[in-house]
Amino acid sequence: MSDDDFLRVTDVSKWYGEEQVLHDVSFEMDRGDVTVLIGPSGSGKSTMLRCVNRLAEAQEGSILLDGEEVLSPDLDVDELRREVGMVFQGFNLFAHLTAVGNVALGPRRVLGLSETEARERAEDQLERVGLADQLDSYPAELSGGQQQRVGIARALAMEPKLMLFDEPTSALDPELIGEVLEVMHGLVDEGMTMLVVTHEMSFARAVADEIVFLDDGRVVERGPPEQLFERPEEERTGRFLERIASHD
Ligand SMILES: Nc1ncnc2c1ncn2[C@@H]1O[C@H](COP(=O)(O)OP(=O)(O)O)[C@@H](O)[C@H]1O
Ligand SMILES: [Mg+2]
Repeated sequence: MSDDDFLRVTDVSKWYGEEQVLHDVSFEMDRGDVTVLIGPSGSGKSTMLRCVNRLAEAQEGSILLDGEEVLSPDLDVDELRREVGMVFQGFNLFAHLTAVGNVALGPRRVLGLSETEARERAEDQLERVGLADQLDSYPAELSGGQQQRVGIARALAMEPKLMLFDEPTSALDPELIGEVLEVMHGLVDEGMTMLVVTHEMSFARAVADEIVFLDDGRVVERGPPEQLFERPEEERTGRFLERIASHD
């Protein structure tokens, strides 16, 4: 651990009612790092991500983002969410807005850009995710993979310093997963700092600087993909990976 970690999660614990869903979770990221959270359903992956942008409130621990305490009661949550983009499993696009309309909304409403500036920014971001030819399409006219790429462009349009991805390809038909992973791979190459929950293990292996394996709200094991995938130290990690592999 160094003093200049970009994201430093320390001993984060969270309860829903009586149920403790995160137990002293810790990990760190440098700027430009890609960290992939893996683990069985219900292990706390989404909750951990959501604590980072305060969609969920951790009751204990510390989350330092660029030196600022995310869990501080004084934190400006709106500013935090401008700086931390999130891509969900479901795309949640506005059906009555075109791709450009969906992507321009945040820059226009939240960042206060002019209509022209917001549209230009939206076009740039849609181009970045390979949708330059679908600017004026409505969500219903797009495939799931294209809709998710609009979702990514929407997050990028706020110029976030950290991107969170929560199983971005889980809702997609298998043949549409590749195009979304390709866009994410491009962001990695551009140096985007990304915290990703995914079951796409070959993607994780290719891009992750570190894999964090969560089970029952606890970090069981973490390390570089080569280590975690080839030589897991914990039996639980090996069992989980075998189970995942048998579903591929
Ligand atoms: N809003 C909520 N209210 C109560 N319990 C929740 C809520 N969200 C998640 N949980 C519980 O927290 C645990 C972790 O869930 P989650 O973070 O969604 O896991 P994962 O994303 O790894 O599948 C589960 O037991 C889940 O039922
Ligand atoms: Mg989840």
